[in-house]
Amino acid sequence: MPHTRVRKATTSDVSQLAALLARAMEDDPVICWVIPHPETRRRVLPRFFAAMIRHLYLPADQVYTTADLAAAALWLPPGNAAPATSDVLRLASRVVLLLPLVGRALMRAPGMLRLLDANHPKEPHYYLALLGTEPARQGHGIGSAMLSPQLARCDAEGIPAYLESSNWRNVALYARHGFKVTKELKLAPAGPCMWLMWREPND
Ligand SMILES: CC(C)(COP(=O)(O)OP(=O)(O)OC[C@H]1O[C@@H](n2cnc3c(N)ncnc32)[C@H](O)[C@@H]1OP(=O)(O)O)[C@@H](O)C(=O)NCCC(=O)NCCS
Repeated sequence: MPHTRVRKATTSDVSQLAALLARAMEDDPVICWVIPHPETRRRVLPRFFAAMIRHLYLPADQVYTTADLAAAALWLPPGNAAPATSDVLRLASRVVLLLPLVGRALMRAPGMLRLLDANHPKEPHYYLALLGTEPARQGHGIGSAMLSPQLARCDAEGIPAYLESSNWRNVALYARHGFKVTKELKLAPAGPCMWLMWREPND
């Protein structure tokens, strides 16, 4: 398998990484529940991810990609544990206002974000907010290559890592990298689950 070089992203990468994340997350069970209509997802997601990267994650300098922009990982360092629900909602509403036809698309988002906030660990940790690989290139080790340097840093600094997996299929990938499920969180009685995962640093 060719070596995947991971580098920090810059402002000039924002649109390409947002479009990539939108393609990667388009069929995600939680995204589909929050934004059920496929056409709405295609219109909202690239703008929403661009706003998230530009305003919440690049300022923390923890956005990673590969040399050929095949994947994106959005992390937050300890002390910045998660963007406040109000920050995410403000960005989301700004995006939705740009798109008058989107209407009630994001009605389920506030409750979900509040639930995730309430379950977010208080202990200092690196937070993996989002990881995505270009769909045509998934399953070839790029996601693992994206995780490795940041997890090595967690180990070197003795700091845990945390994520919420929105897809059961990814739980095995994260488990291979040392994460353990701490909770299966049902988003609503008829909604999907998320798997909260915590990783203690290795000595
Ligand atoms: C999850 C994801 C980032 C992993 O990246 P990747 O480059 O495919 O990762 P790797 O090749 O190193 O690892 C493959 C593992 O990822 C998981 N995986 C999840 N979705 C996958 C997919 N569509 N194709 C291949 N592997 C997938 C599996 O555990 C897989 O292992 P398996 O083949 O034994 O089932 C990528 O598949 C993706 O972008 N998926 C859609 C978006 C998403 O779910 N993001 C994470 C939100 S929590």
